[in-house]
Amino acid sequence: MDLQLTGKVAFITGASKGIGRAVAEQLASEGADVVITARTAEPLEETASKIAAGSGRSVVAMPGDMSKPQDIDRCVTETIKRFGHIDILVTCAGSSPGGLLEELTEEHWMSSLNLKFMGYVRTVRAVISHMRERGEGAIVLVVGNDGLKPSYWEMTAGAANAADINFASSVAEQYGRYGVRINTVNPGPVNTDRWDGLEKAFARDKKVDQHRAHELAVSSIPLRRICEPEEVASLVTFLVSPRAYFINGAHIPIDGAQRKALMDV
Ligand SMILES: NC(=O)c1ccc[n+]([C@@H]2O[C@H](COP(=O)([O-])OP(=O)(O)OC[C@H]3O[C@@H](n4cnc5c(N)ncnc54)[C@H](OP(=O)(O)O)[C@@H]3O)[C@@H](O)[C@H]2O)c1
Repeated sequence: MDLQLTGKVAFITGASKGIGRAVAEQLASEGADVVITARTAEPLEETASKIAAGSGRSVVAMPGDMSKPQDIDRCVTETIKRFGHIDILVTCAGSSPGGLLEELTEEHWMSSLNLKFMGYVRTVRAVISHMRERGEGAIVLVVGNDGLKPSYWEMTAGAANAADINFASSVAEQYGRYGVRINTVNPGPVNTDRWDGLEKAFARDKKVDQHRAHELAVSSIPLRRICEPEEVASLVTFLVSPRAYFINGAHIPIDGAQRKALMDV
């Protein structure tokens, strides 16, 4: 199936590795030009060069901290200056500390909300008038199934994710009439450095080893493995393509029907 993405311009936050990188790879392989952001310049530039070499598309590394409004605005402005427009926004720059209510500090809650919720809100805000004026745009927020289900050990992520999902529903309702679509993609555990870090922290908090933490995650998923970043990227790539034009305001889990309660120890 031709996804009709050739020549589109995509802006992807948090994409030097993990899910964002896989999204950048797939969009470029489908013919899109891509701008990727992350805080650390060197791995970001390395990723951009590799994807450009593999796809033959323009892939631009734009270092920036997506928890800082001024960095978001700078990267969006530079992208529009360079390519003339942005067709696609995918937000992946998020991380929320895990933990149980009595262990989570004010700082844990605020850092999660500042990056995973307000970072996503600010990024959408930075592109929305541009997309409204052009009469088109496709946005996907990579959020997380903690926003759709009670989250056992990831409460700060759950609250930020639920807020992202509600925010996206409102944007879908208000901007659909301008041809701008927004959807959320909600993974459970995905095989990335972030998941590895969460498993280590879970193991520490629950006083088990990481192998046991991984077993618990796997046994909470009826498909009996965790997701690969490329599987999330395939869903995102379809959703931002014109093929998915009538999908707007949807919140799609990609978690193999995980039951988080089964991770309790
Ligand atoms: N992996 C999972 O199991 C899972 C499950 C559900 C939801 N998610 C969500 O999916 C998204 C991507 O997760 P992932 O697993 O792919 O993470 P990852 O492998 O840790 O990659 C995160 C990427 O985001 C960048 N990043 C982190 N903080 C940033 C910031 N403040 N500004 C700009 N870039 C930043 C990182 O580079 P730098 O560190 O250099 O900035 C890196 O490129 C996150 O929102 C996460 O919450 C992940």
